[in-house]
Amino acid sequence: MTTVTTPRNSRSVVVTVAAVVEETSEARSLVFDVPPERRDEFAYKPGQFLTLRIPSDRSGSVARCYSLASSPFTDDLPKVTIKRTADGYGSHWLCDHVDVGDRIEVLPPAGAFTPVDLDEDVLLFAAGSGITPVMSILKSALSQGSGKVMLFYANRDERSIIFAAELRELASRHDDRLTVVHWLESVQGLPTARQLASLSDRWHDRRAYVCGPRPFMGAIHEALALVGMPRNKVHAEVFTSLSGDPFAPEVEQIPVGDEGSTATVEVQLDGDTHNLSWPRAATLVDVMLSKGLEVPYSCREGECGSCACTVIEGEVSMDSAAILDPEDIANGYILACQARPVSEHLRIEF
Ligand SMILES: Cc1cc2nc3c(=O)[nH]c(=O)nc-3n(C[C@H](O)[C@H](O)[C@H](O)COP(=O)(O)OP(=O)(O)OC[C@H]3O[C@@H](n4cnc5c(N)ncnc54)[C@H](O)[C@@H]3O)c2cc1C
Ligand code: FES
Repeated sequence: MTTVTTPRNSRSVVVTVAAVVEETSEARSLVFDVPPERRDEFAYKPGQFLTLRIPSDRSGSVARCYSLASSPFTDDLPKVTIKRTADGYGSHWLCDHVDVGDRIEVLPPAGAFTPVDLDEDVLLFAAGSGITPVMSILKSALSQGSGKVMLFYANRDERSIIFAAELRELASRHDDRLTVVHWLESVQGLPTARQLASLSDRWHDRRAYVCGPRPFMGAIHEALALVGMPRNKVHAEVFTSLSGDPFAPEVEQIPVGDEGSTATVEVQLDGDTHNLSWPRAATLVDVMLSKGLEVPYSCREGECGSCACTVIEGEVSMDSAAILDPEDIANGYILACQARPVSEHLRIEF
């Protein structure tokens, strides 16, 4: 089946499937062995994701992102969990065709849905496959942090609960710190914003991490607004399918010179400040890559959220920012892979 031997892209890595775990009748986990010489690039933060290249007779391949459900603190090997999507191509392919020993091309971990502080008390909300990044955050907080964790986890019915046994075990091992509230659509119907608000009220001063289908995320945002949680304390991960090919050989670097119209930008990245000139036709990711900076990115299409950053000063235009909520945009969040400068001078923080 998987015949990938040579990575198509200098960033991508061919990993070997070390284990396959059937989690439910609709979801399975793939555990990966990363070649020793590339392991440093696979250091990841809880909540990040991998991008997998899935063979296709129709298009050569498709790229799909899958969150790491493992924790960098408690699991030896990275693990992703895939739930079949109705009429989906990639999810069915991964559930039907992958066995132990197969090799898959992946892009290194990326994503900004990561915990701000593992010691904080947090509220976690997940529905269906949205549990994957939340599980990584949960396990990391319990093993490394000291805060209390409330997990609200919605599923269609009992049989569709992914990681049910692992959650039971964690709840009994950390009964002073972890509260798990299961919600079953088959029993309680879909949770409404009012129900979610009354459940969250006593924890409204915590930070929240949310992942699930769009209507679920909408209900959570509404509920948390009702209980007065500031929008900047609500972190959300949106699951979408990529439409482009981030595995395509690297595009030629954009020449960044003083020709043509340029802006200037001060970028804060990993504690360092970089002053760059920013041609108006280039995106911030292009400019930073051309300067050899380790800007976080994955899809470069405005679909994965890896390159999210904040404009502190100045204005940008974006071709596509559909994954950002209007509130995110109002709070200055942008996607660096889509952003081009409008102002003369900008300050941006990753
Ligand atoms: C950051 C992030 C993290 C995510 N984490 C997870 C996770 O942890 N778990 C999880 O389950 N999902 C996750 N997802 C969602 C995941 O990436 C996919 O969107 C999901 O699995 C659905 O993909 P699919 O291909 O099955 O479905 P679809 O994308 O709905 O498949 C249909 C699409 O495939 C095309 N298609 C159909 N047949 C073919 C063919 N033969 N060749 C090529 N194309 C074809 C169709 O034209 C259509 O566009 C995440 C997404 C993101 C962005
Ligand atoms: S790199 Fe995926 S949204 Fe920018």
